Amino acid sequence: MYAAVTLLVFMCLTATTRADHHHHPCHSPNMTGFMSVITIKGDVKAYGAFTYDSMGKKLRFRSNESNPTNTSLAVDLLMFFDEGIFYEIDSKNQSCEKKKLQCTLHPLDIPDDAKFMSTLNFGNPSIEGEGVKLNSWTGSMPGTKGKYVIYVTTGCLPVSTFYFTESMSFFIGTTEIENEIKDPELLLVPSFCQGLPVEDTPEGTVNSFFHEFM
Ligand SMILES: *[C@@H]1O[C@H](CO)[C@@H](O)[C@H](O)[C@H]1NC(C)=O
Ligand SMILES: *[C@@H]1O[C@H](CO)[C@@H](O)[C@H](O)[C@H]1NC(C)=O
Ligand SMILES: *[C@@H]1O[C@H](CO)[C@@H](O)[C@H](O)[C@H]1NC(C)=O
Ligand SMILES: *[C@@H]1O[C@H](CO)[C@@H](O)[C@H](O)[C@H]1NC(C)=O
Repeated sequence: MYAAVTLLVFMCLTATTRADHHHHPCHSPNMTGFMSVITIKGDVKAYGAFTYDSMGKKLRFRSNESNPTNTSLAVDLLMFFDEGIFYEIDSKNQSCEKKKLQCTLHPLDIPDDAKFMSTLNFGNPSIEGEGVKLNSWTGSMPGTKGKYVIYVTTGCLPVSTFYFTESMSFFIGTTEIENEIKDPELLLVPSFCQGLPVEDTPEGTVNSFFHEFM
């Protein structure tokens, strides 16, 4: 009896320790890389370079228009998640729209309230360079009845993010990540965007990273 209770206590302690390890989502570091936004139907919405400042919570994502498809969108987004503001930039036209972000969810970082799902070994982890261990986290998407699932490396680099909503679902993949900001200027508001008023958000509209592709 005593042994059984001891064992049970020990198991509970172990479970708590293991749960604690995953209790808080990690946060991604400063990064430069490439990002693809693809619908679950297979339509490429955007592919291009991104720059992310993890402390300042700033993201720049510019789609690369050199190989456009008939579903791709030309986007140039500069998002300030702490301020809840973003810019839609048109560099060719030197014009800009400044808008409010109603939802700060984005594919490069795990929200603080995300729930841990699992740790999975992809490929063959016993062969050097043939395997990668990923942690997945999930949560609900504000403003929709959807869910997200984000897969990150043990060093918290985002690998892929899924957004599942009633109307549309997306896969967002990142590649060629470097753990630094290579061009800090990309995170500055361009001169032609400065001093703009924040545009009114029409009733019922939600602005967020993924809403830009819906
Ligand atoms: C990330 O980039 C920002 C902006 O360039 C910089 O202030 C910060 O120190 C960087 N953080 C790390 C850990 O390098
Ligand atoms: C767009 O992609 C092409 C190659 O496909 C590359 O040469 C070019 O530098 C890219 N442009 C930007 C702005 O990333
Ligand atoms: C996009 O192009 C494909 C063929 O390349 C075509 O089948 C499809 O209908 C096109 N879609 C639109 C929305 O034009
Ligand atoms: C430039 O901006 C104007 C208004 O903001 C827009 O009507 C026009 O289509 C844009 N031109 C290009 C080439 O994007």
